Amino acid sequence: MKRMTKAAALVMAAAMMAAVPVSAEDTLTFGTNPEFPPFEYVTSNGVIDTYDGIDMAIAKAIAEDNGMTAAVENMEFDSLLVALQNGQVDAVIAGMTVTDERKEAVDFSTPYYTATQVMIVKEDSDIEKAEDMADKKICVIQGYTGQVCVDEMGYEYESFKKGTEAVMELVNDKCDVVVIDSATAQQYVSDNEGLKIVEDADAFGAEEYAIAVQKGNTELLDKINASVEKMLEDGTISELAAQYAEVEAE
Ligand code: ARG
Repeated sequence: MKRMTKAAALVMAAAMMAAVPVSAEDTLTFGTNPEFPPFEYVTSNGVIDTYDGIDMAIAKAIAEDNGMTAAVENMEFDSLLVALQNGQVDAVIAGMTVTDERKEAVDFSTPYYTATQVMIVKEDSDIEKAEDMADKKICVIQGYTGQVCVDEMGYEYESFKKGTEAVMELVNDKCDVVVIDSATAQQYVSDNEGLKIVEDADAFGAEEYAIAVQKGNTELLDKINASVEKMLEDGTISELAAQYAEVEAE
């Protein structure tokens, strides 16, 4: 190896110092609503502080890919996009489905996960298709795409702030069905006795989860996309999805 010149050594020392996270510029702040296992939930020892899940692992990897540290702001699902627009967070990662309405407010990354809405019912339920919900008591989560689906079907529903609250209504026979995203539904069914999932692919289409950034923030979006695409190609994301589904189901 050649000997370094004094100038080169100084440049290198400066670069090494710059790599140490010291200022807020080295922090990438993600907004999420950690009420959505296996994508985000609160735990004693998560990948980012007390936050864990598929999305949290992805967020951490994106930050690290870019020499930054990931931080999480915990908020209501309904407040996420407003917080992003206000600049309170740099990006939103929350198992968030890309919709035309949301695309008017923010820009989305390359999608990283495909899901669908499903119905969680009691094991002895007679609900077999979405239209069987017509005369049933339906629970949804406020602001989730599941609420939009049920709304568009023209059925009455009650909405809750958290998936666990809606599932407790079902467990306690206060409602007949909860409409929510597939992977999260799996978690709730394995966490609670006597529940099952009913799918209806004709009624509920495919949904794609993506990371949101402020409209026009192409600089950050390009970085996020580069990381996401790398993790899709090398299988990291499907590995994480399988791992976290397993951990949670234990
Ligand atoms: N995929 C659904 C939606 O975009 C539900 C997402 C809920 N995510 C959460 N972190 N609570 O509306």
